[in-house]
Amino acid sequence: MKQTAVLILAAGRGTRMRSELPKVLHHAGGRTMLASVLAAARAAGFEPGAIGVVAGYCADAIRGAVAPLGVKVTIQEPQLGTGHAVMAAEGWWRAYERLIIVHGDMPMLSAATVRGLAAALGGDVAAVLATASPAEPRAYGRIIREGNDVIAIVEERQATPAQLALRELNAGFYGFQTAALAPALAALGTANPHGEYYLTDTIAILAKQGKRVAAFALADADECLGVNDRAELARLDQSLRRRKAQSLLQSGVTIQLPDTVVIDPDVEVGPETVIEAGVQLLGTTRLGRGCHVRAYSVITDCEIGDQVLIRQHCVMERARVAAGALLGPFTRLREGADIGAAAHIGNFVEVKKTQVGAGSKANHLAYLGDAHIGSGANIGAGTITCNYDGVDKHPTTIGDFAFVGSNSTLVAPVVIGPGAYIGAGSVITENVPEDALAVGRGRQAIKAGWARRRKKRTP
Ligand code: UD1
Ligand code: CA
Repeated sequence: MKQTAVLILAAGRGTRMRSELPKVLHHAGGRTMLASVLAAARAAGFEPGAIGVVAGYCADAIRGAVAPLGVKVTIQEPQLGTGHAVMAAEGWWRAYERLIIVHGDMPMLSAATVRGLAAALGGDVAAVLATASPAEPRAYGRIIREGNDVIAIVEERQATPAQLALRELNAGFYGFQTAALAPALAALGTANPHGEYYLTDTIAILAKQGKRVAAFALADADECLGVNDRAELARLDQSLRRRKAQSLLQSGVTIQLPDTVVIDPDVEVGPETVIEAGVQLLGTTRLGRGCHVRAYSVITDCEIGDQVLIRQHCVMERARVAAGALLGPFTRLREGADIGAAAHIGNFVEVKKTQVGAGSKANHLAYLGDAHIGSGANIGAGTITCNYDGVDKHPTTIGDFAFVGSNSTLVAPVVIGPGAYIGAGSVITENVPEDALAVGRGRQAIKAGWARRRKKRTP
């Protein structure tokens, strides 16, 4: 027999979300709730093959989200309660000695809890359940004890006033010896207000058989927070964001007003980096050490070296930035922007699929697309690479130490040689050789005294 598996219950609809999407596919903390629960199981050491998901409502969407990871998906149709969901997957988990069961709508679940439940199942313990005392006891099952052992879980709607006053609650995470679980499930009935098979009723069944049920107190009571509506989703999102910010603070990152930043779970930030208020670091973004991200920048899937300064309001996605570069305010880096070491990209400069060499500068108001810019180049204010002719995109090459005067229009494909100089306001349609000066604009005309004569004419 195989040792331990994890089963995630995710078949419910979540009516109060008022959504077409199944509840567990809503996002909190930068991932779907189901992905967070899966991540906890994976971090606890479970391979995808030892993880099962019970799907029902919108099963195809759930299958699409998790089946590619190698997780076993079982369909529960119709959905007749949490006990029924576990029965639906019995054909799969029967091959294991122990089963951890968790709810897909509880994304605060930690790897430590999954490991703790598995470890608690040793010896004569037939089942273990996680307990907590959340500030709001509403809707949780009450834990009934006899001495050290748990003898039942009573659902809120069936609890007596004395049971309702109990503050030790059923978090919704369990461990079972499968040899004890299977017959307990078979003994479940539906004599309750919902007419459902409650997984929680297996506890009293096991206790009556003289089997031991242990309790596992959650280290962090927030772990038992689940989502039933979008207000709770917003609160959990905030808790998960806080958890990520706390772990970065502990690793040596400074965060100003941590409750205002949004940092996705997979983002990495080096020590001594400073993150100011309102910053969003999303996706797979990685920031080096000693960086400074000023207020309200949004950075998605970017790779950023050490000692980079990102001033306020930069918007960046799928870009790379080398050490010591200086960006913003209001810089826009798009897919394939590759900014060299100590380069400067300033306000209202948009860069797409363009390499900018070390120490090059484009400080104001420019569009650089499909370009290769050498090192030490200076791109004047208002420079535009005209990369698109309405049908195709074309490249622009600018050599090392070239100087592109302000408001130049570079019509691609075009090559500006190293050290070349472009006069301000030029429209460049032909290649410019190394060290040459190119000026492409109408000549200035002077009409002496013209303005004075005009003033005399107008009263
Ligand atoms: C359940 C527990 C309660 C516990 C609480 C913790 C039962 C009867 N009650 O109540 O003691 O305090 O969780 O959050 O178990 N699901 C299915 N198939 C179904 C029904 C539910 O897969 O037929 C899934 C849901 O998608 C959800 C999870 O099981 O992820 C929990 O179901 P839910 O209806 O939210 O249970 P609670 O009423 O919260
Ligand atoms: Ca619930």
